[in-house]
Amino acid sequence: MYEQVSNLKKLLDGRNISEIITGNIRVFCVTSGKGGVGKTNLSVNMSLALQKMGQKVLLVDADLGLANVDVLMGLYPKYNISHILSCNMSVNEILLEGPMGIKILPGASGLYELANLSTMELNALIKAFSAVTSDFDVVVIDTGAGISKNVLSFIHSSDEIIIVTTPEPSAVTDAYALIKLIYKYSRKIHVIVNRVDNFKDGEYTVKKILNASRKFLHTEINYLGYVLEDKKVLKSNMEQIPFYAKYPDSLASKCVTNIVHNLLYGEQRPFQNNFTFDGWIKKFISFVRNPAGG
Ligand SMILES: Nc1ncnc2c1ncn2[C@@H]1O[C@H](COP(=O)(O)OP(=O)(O)OP(=O)(O)O)[C@@H](O)[C@H]1O
Ligand SMILES: [Mg+2]
Repeated sequence: MYEQVSNLKKLLDGRNISEIITGNIRVFCVTSGKGGVGKTNLSVNMSLALQKMGQKVLLVDADLGLANVDVLMGLYPKYNISHILSCNMSVNEILLEGPMGIKILPGASGLYELANLSTMELNALIKAFSAVTSDFDVVVIDTGAGISKNVLSFIHSSDEIIIVTTPEPSAVTDAYALIKLIYKYSRKIHVIVNRVDNFKDGEYTVKKILNASRKFLHTEINYLGYVLEDKKVLKSNMEQIPFYAKYPDSLASKCVTNIVHNLLYGEQRPFQNNFTFDGWIKKFISFVRNPAGG
């Protein structure tokens, strides 16, 4: 770890500091304990809602599962992050354009190859990303479920974690288990309760998580809101058009609007973080290389 930190320091020292501390990107890592609770659907549709509210959004597909971001949007990526190095492509050349103008980084396998990069390759990659830092206000990362090394690398490199659960007891238990694992490293943990029958269902579910976190971990979790069970979600998945784009008046879309509103203007004022995209990439790579962080 110390060697990596010193390598990163060397990289930083080689560059103008003002080049690094620019912008103020918020990075949201969407994750869950249990699989299949709706992370990808929420990542995609929250990204659209954020874009609609004036944010410039980059959606990073870090889910190795089958039902990933590009499938939900009917997109067919030709390139991924690994092509920046292997084919000398720019970040803009590998980004896909999704509905409403959001940009998608088809990460998948390429992202995990970062662990084996040489310092020179790493430098080239960081340079490539620094070119697009000012293009985005928000980065949304859709991860796979559970606590694999890869998922933890994304969690540890992001300031704000959004944990998705459903009211199902096993999903709630797994969400809490994940919080226990990450709360010491994360600046802000949010929770969304997906697939609820009504408002009370969401409140009841989240209370269990909030109370346990307060009592046993002495940590405050932020409840971002709930998403109702809605047949339009599956319908939109079948049509490969996100529900927020195809069915903006659906119950699920209205819930996503509320959630994103909370995220941007909620009581918890977003902290000033001097976060930059290339800064995040550096942090991420250091965790991919050493997930234990020490
Ligand atoms: N609010 C909702 N109402 C109805 N169905 C939903 C809702 N949210 C998600 N679903 C359905 O749940 C299934 C899983 O959704 P999704 O793929 O987004 O989950 P995931 O957490 O990303 O899964 P994985 O862990 O495999 O990555 C899909 O079939 C989707 O249509
Ligand atoms: Mg998924």
